Amino acid sequence: MNLQLEGKRALVTGSSSGLGKEIAELLAAEGASVVVHGRDEGRAEAVAKGIREAGGSASVTIGDLGTDVGADEAVAAALAAGPVDILVNNAGVYDPAADWWGTSSEQWADIHNINVISAVRMIRRLVPGMRERGWGRVIQISSVTGRLPQASQPHYAASNAARDNLAASLARELAHTGVTSNAVAAGGILVPATEEMLTALGREKGWGDTWEEIEPHAVGNLAPNDTGRIGRVGDYARLVTYLAGPGAGYINGTTLRVDGGWRDV
Ligand SMILES: NC(=O)c1ccc[n+]([C@@H]2O[C@H](COP(=O)([O-])OP(=O)(O)OC[C@H]3O[C@@H](n4cnc5c(N)ncnc54)[C@H](OP(=O)(O)O)[C@@H]3O)[C@@H](O)[C@H]2O)c1
Repeated sequence: MNLQLEGKRALVTGSSSGLGKEIAELLAAEGASVVVHGRDEGRAEAVAKGIREAGGSASVTIGDLGTDVGADEAVAAALAAGPVDILVNNAGVYDPAADWWGTSSEQWADIHNINVISAVRMIRRLVPGMRERGWGRVIQISSVTGRLPQASQPHYAASNAARDNLAASLARELAHTGVTSNAVAAGGILVPATEEMLTALGREKGWGDTWEEIEPHAVGNLAPNDTGRIGRVGDYARLVTYLAGPGAGYINGTTLRVDGGWRDV
C-alpha cells in the first residue's frame, strides 16, 4: 500500500529514542520528510543521520517541551525549513515504580505538564497552519492505562486519559477543516528504557536472568494481553504511520489501541 506520504513534513516529538525514533524512521521510509526532536542534540542528530543514511529526509529540532520557551524554540527550528503537516505528540515520561502514596503533588503536576500540556503547546503553535492549508494530521501518543489503569503510576494513567480526551476535543474543534486528530494508545512496548526497567525488576522478583526468561512473567504480571508478549516498536509505529497519511482521513476523534488485547490484571 502506498501511504502517500511523499511531500509531507512530519514532526515527531521525543523521537531521539524509543517509540518516537521508530515512528520517525518509518514515516521517513514511507517518504515523509521528518523533523526529529529531543532535548539532547547528539541523540536527536544520531537518529536523523541514520534516517538520511537509509535514503530518507530528516532534520533536527531541540527544545524542552515542558516550557513555553522550549516549545517556541522547537517549533521555530522545525518551521525554518517548511510547514509541518503531521504532528506526532510522542514526548513523554513514565515511572512504573511510582505508586499512590509515594507520588507527590509536584510529581502529579510535572507528569501532566510533560505528557499533556507539552502536546497542547505544540498543537497551539502548529495546528493553526494546518487549518489554513486545509490538511493536517495530529496524532497523540498515549497508553492503554488511560482507559484501564492499574494501581501503579496513577499520575501517568491519568495523563493518558487526558491525552485521549484532548485528541477527541481537538477533532471537534477542527471539524470540516481537513485536519484530523486521534490518539493511539499503546500497551507495554519494548524500548531500551522499558527493557532495562523490566529486566531489573524481573531479576529482583526471581523471574529469570535474561529478557527471554523474564518476558512471559512481565506479560502476566504487568502487561496482561492475549498475544502473550510485550509489543515491539514496529507493532505500534506501523499504525501511527498509516494514520499520518491521506488514506486515514475518515479516522477521526478516536483512540485506537495497539496493546495485544490488553485486559485488567
Ligand atoms: N514504551 C511503552 O511501553 C509505552 C507505552 C505506552 C505509551 N508510551 C508513551 O510513548 C512515549 C515515548 O515513550 P518511550 O517508551 O519511547 O520512552 P523514551 O525512550 O524514554 O522516549 C521519550 C522521549 O521523550 C522525550 N522527552 C521526555 N521529556 C521531554 C521534555 N520535557 N521535552 C522534550 N522531550 C522530552 C525524550 O527526549 P530526550 O532525548 O530529550 O530525553 C525521548 O525522546 C511516551 O509519551 C510514553 O508515555 C510508551
